[in-house]
Amino acid sequence: MKSYNVAVVGGDGTGPEVVREAVKVLDAAAPKFGFKLNYTHFDFGGERYLRTKEALPDSAVSDLRKFPVVLLGAIGHPDVKPGILEKGILLRLRFELEQYINLRPVKLYDERFCPLKDKKPEHIDFVVVRENNEGLYTGSGGFVFKGTPNEIAIQESVNTRRGVERCLRYAFEYCRKRNKRKTLMLCGKTNVLTYAFDLWERAFHEIGAKDFPDIKREYAHVDATTMWFVKNPEWFDVIVTDNMFGDIITDLGAMIQGGMGIAAGGNINPAGTSMFEPIGGSAPKYTGQNVINPLAAICAGGMMLDYLGESKAGSAIEQAVIKITREKLKTLAAGKMGYGTTQVGDMVAGGVVD
Ligand code: IPM
Ligand code: MN
Repeated sequence: MKSYNVAVVGGDGTGPEVVREAVKVLDAAAPKFGFKLNYTHFDFGGERYLRTKEALPDSAVSDLRKFPVVLLGAIGHPDVKPGILEKGILLRLRFELEQYINLRPVKLYDERFCPLKDKKPEHIDFVVVRENNEGLYTGSGGFVFKGTPNEIAIQESVNTRRGVERCLRYAFEYCRKRNKRKTLMLCGKTNVLTYAFDLWERAFHEIGAKDFPDIKREYAHVDATTMWFVKNPEWFDVIVTDNMFGDIITDLGAMIQGGMGIAAGGNINPAGTSMFEPIGGSAPKYTGQNVINPLAAICAGGMMLDYLGESKAGSAIEQAVIKITREKLKTLAAGKMGYGTTQVGDMVAGGVVD
């Protein structure tokens, strides 16, 4: 029997609660689809940081490297200054594990949960491929004359040909495999970011023309992209973009698919350790109340199985989530679902086994 080692990082706030439900659902899927999952838990997060004064122990990256996948809950603690855990845990893992893709599907499961008028599941079903190791996120930059009236703060966007190219190639391949509209849209800002997106645009057309003639290429500025997410989301198939734009547009994407309760993503290193997570944060005010929506974490678990090659099990989880969102839940918001966190997990697990 196939077996997979899974590193589990519950993290902060409601992270551990939603991950517990994801594991419950994964454990329902595994025997049904004939594989085994072995979990190893890691206590990385705000509590550990407050105790030890280090965001990650030195061994963390090399330990996690031994796993094909990591299932992550959430990072962010109200008693820790913003930036420390985000940079010290989440971004560090994304960078050092070379998870150069952040894959974020935007799919509406039930029209009741869409804030846009007259948009139905057939209108909202696209995927954002966000570059995840470069751009404005590398931390390159600095201060000059800090704290004086002449202060200068510089934050540089780093775009390497290698980094851009591997991201674009992944997006083209993904679009081909998805086999829907076979259209890849580059989302950028070529009219202002005339160095960064010049490189992106040249690489996009070179690679597309040479190696992916079957994939139609489109381009949109990021501002127009947000407009169309709201006005015509049905236009999109696969979108590829840089780290910062990808961060911003996927929060909007999460809203049109029903909110943070349902939005999942994967930080992917196609040749290494990939990490799957709900996109929403640690939601500290809901911690321990059994009210947070676990569906995003459950969907992240489904994406994880798909990545591991267990795509039948992954889609069984997605189908169970669709059924429960359509037939049971009142809303997708914390405390308003009509069920508790654990009950939602039970219902999805039951749906997977059925
Ligand atoms: C996300 C988050 C992170 C990001 C933060 C927490 C650093 O917003 O996963 O989208 O900006 O990438
Ligand atoms: Mn974000």
